[in-house]
Parts: sequence; C-alpha cells; structure tokens
Amino acid sequence: MPPGRGPHSRNASVPSVHTMRTPHIALLATGGTIAGTAGSATDTSGYAAGQLGAEALIAAVPPLAALARLSAEQLFNLDSKDMGPPHWLALARRVQALADDPAVDGIVITHGTDTLEETAYFLHITVSAAKPVVMTAAMRPATALSADGPLNLYQAVALACRPAAGRAGVLAVLGDRILPAAAIAKRHPSAVDAFSREGALTTLASDAALHALAPARNSRVALPPGLQMLPPVELLAVAAGSSPALVRALAGASLAGAVAGVVVALPGNASLPDAWLPALNELPDSVPLVLASRCGGGISRHRADAPGHWLDAGALDPLKARVRLIAGLGADLRGARLRRWFERG
Ligand code: SIN
Repeated sequence: MPPGRGPHSRNASVPSVHTMRTPHIALLATGGTIAGTAGSATDTSGYAAGQLGAEALIAAVPPLAALARLSAEQLFNLDSKDMGPPHWLALARRVQALADDPAVDGIVITHGTDTLEETAYFLHITVSAAKPVVMTAAMRPATALSADGPLNLYQAVALACRPAAGRAGVLAVLGDRILPAAAIAKRHPSAVDAFSREGALTTLASDAALHALAPARNSRVALPPGLQMLPPVELLAVAAGSSPALVRALAGASLAGAVAGVVVALPGNASLPDAWLPALNELPDSVPLVLASRCGGGISRHRADAPGHWLDAGALDPLKARVRLIAGLGADLRGARLRRWFERG
C-alpha cells in the first residue's frame, strides 16, 4: 500500500511553490498529554492522557498541510508512565522500517512527556536513520486554552522536513527548543517549560548547528531481528543513610533470572556508601552493575579497583544509563564489549 493511503492515513499534501516535491513525513502517535482531553478548557491537571487519535492531532494544526504530506499511524495511545521496554522495541522496529523506506523523508513521534527522555534515548541508540527522527509532546492537554501541543507538533514536522536534522540522531521539539536525545530531561512535573534547557538549540537553529549534533560513530547497537523481549534491568537509588535491603532482594531475583542488570543512582561522583558495598558484592558476576551519579550533570568515575562487571555510567544520568544497559544487553553485549559500549556513551 503506498505511504499515506493506509486506513489510518491522511494525505495532507499541498503543492509548494518553493520545492519540487512536498516532503512525506510519517507521524507515529503513541499517546501522552498532547493527545489528552479534560472536561473544561481551563483544566490543565485533571485530564486523561492518550485520548485523541493521530488524525485529530493533525486536524488541529491546519498549517501542517503547507509543510508536508503526512501519513499517520496510531502505534499506542498511552499515558507514558505505562510505557516501557516492550513499547520501545515495537516503536524502534517501526521507526527503523520507516527510516529504511525511501518514500519517507522524516519521522515525527508524539509521546507523553513523563518518560519521553527514556524512549528518545532508546531510539537514539538503537535506530540507524539518515533522515530526521523528531519526537514531540505537550504539557497541556489538547482541550486546554493555550494548549502547547499544536505548535510543538507544527515545529516538529517543520524540523523533520529539514534533511540536516537527519544527521543529529533522535531529537525532541518542545517549547520552541530542539533537544538532542542525550540532553532530554524533564525537570518540572507541571510547568509548560518543563524540560532542561541544557544542550538545547532554538527551533531557528541553522543547518550547521544541527549537523554539529551528529552523534559519535559507533554510538548505536543493532538489536537482533528476532529479539522478542528486552532484558529486565532494575534501577535503585541510594539516599543518605538508606539501607541496601533491596539490593539483596535483587541479588535473589537475578539468581532466578528475573534481573539481567542493575543500575544504582549514587550520590556525588557515583560514590558508594560503605554499607552498600557488601550487598552489591552479593550480585552475581553475570549481572552487570552500572554506577551512575544522581547529580544529573558532569561525568562520574568509580574506583579503579572495582570488579570487572561494574561499569561507569560516565555522563549518563541513571535513567539513560538503564536504557543503555537494556539496549546493550538486548544486543547481546557482554564483558569487554559491554564495557566499551558504556565507554562510548
Ligand atoms: C504522559 O507522559 O503521557 C502524561 C504526561 C504528559 O504527557 O505531559
């Protein structure tokens, strides 16, 4: 079936006087507040996410028709708190198929803001695409006065129409800013301007600025085509004086095969409290342990005398370190190959 003609597709093509060919942008909708509805236009908190379909999101932004020919697919319609590795795997496969389709010029994904940074980073390190892959979202539901979704969607499609964005890996467009996948971090639970500005470009960024975002070579893994399920990886956080009881529970679960890797969010320079060391040593050597800093910036390094299956998250925050460990284990990286995968992160 030609792109744009499927049962969930819409051909919003308008001939452009400036270009020979109107770009074909594939929109993948997954839910979130951008597709959320509330009982009143002034209610920006008591709403349900993931209510409107992809067609309704497009219909709310008539100027999109002048930018691109859009085909729309509803992959899921979820509040992103309920998304996780099974959704990432399905989404990555669909994005890869669209990236490999010569009839598609760019891909836009609508998503909830709550776990956007995890999905975006997973796609960034597992999809190989030479064309733009742009995620977007909203903090206010679609029914709100001054909803932020329509302009975010317009700007995401506009960015996906720019071939230069295809060199930058996965990007997100939120509130007039372009965020590279590794820099996406939600920092406020409800403000419209909820995402960290660190590492952001404005949506007016030049092509040269977009090119400069190009990820380092070898920064992706290829997931095996037959992979059915991503490995289970747990994330624990150390708070001042907190007990390592949960580590011991995970050590038991990992012996039963229910945990394939562990990430620990640690204070400061990924510093391990003395009380946690014996418990972490109970984790089997077959279960990689990634030590990440809770600081949310900088590069952490742990002790050189650490066991071989302990890895540094480096510049990755604990959430992204977990995503990277899931992707690495999913691609069957073990031992020195897994270590190199983290060193490249
Ligand atoms: C969600 O993450 O799906 C709900 C919250 C949001 O999109 O802002």
